[in-house]
Amino acid sequence: MSAGDAQRLFFALWPDDAVRAALVRAAEHPRLARGRRVRAENLHVTLLFLGDTAPGQRTCAEQLAETVRASPFTLVIDQSGWWRRPQVAWVGCAEVPEALSGLVAHLRAGSKGCGFSPEERPFAVHVTVARRVLREPTAVPLDPIRWAVDRFSLVESSLSPGGSAYRVLRTWPLGDLGGGR
Ligand code: 2AM
Repeated sequence: MSAGDAQRLFFALWPDDAVRAALVRAAEHPRLARGRRVRAENLHVTLLFLGDTAPGQRTCAEQLAETVRASPFTLVIDQSGWWRRPQVAWVGCAEVPEALSGLVAHLRAGSKGCGFSPEERPFAVHVTVARRVLREPTAVPLDPIRWAVDRFSLVESSLSPGGSAYRVLRTWPLGDLGGGR
């Protein structure tokens, strides 16, 4: 594979405009709006980071997405947090819906068959709202954001000096309509 053929890909939950607006409002809290803020159009939940992906691997990942049979679920975004090593501030969920855990487990397991090496760490549902946040912000009380999730997407990340740009490549529905289309 020449470097020019590879795409940097990940599976994600991509918010609609209303959820995105609510996420932006949460991210504007002065205790979270620090470091380098994630641009509104980039806010998302990563399900599985694939990284550099050859064309054949992308096809494999898309076929994997078609085998997903998870039900739709509601994410309740009700807490903020911070991780020391990646230096990110995030908003996320106290409760992870079972359908979401199952979806991530299915993608992780299947991605191995496409030649990816998925993370082994437990899945932590989060929306990164700021990077390069050097000190832990005091937790922010959030008005819970209810996000009805009925689809997931394959997204391309392009890195540039100005930051990451994301492009949704394909989206698959969850539920009875999911898979096989
Ligand atoms: P983050 O939001 O926790 O930083 C696209 O780059 C997405 O994939 C980001 O949202 C990022 O998650 C995640 N990501 C980037 N590089 C990664 C890596 N090496 N391992 C796991 N996830 C990564």
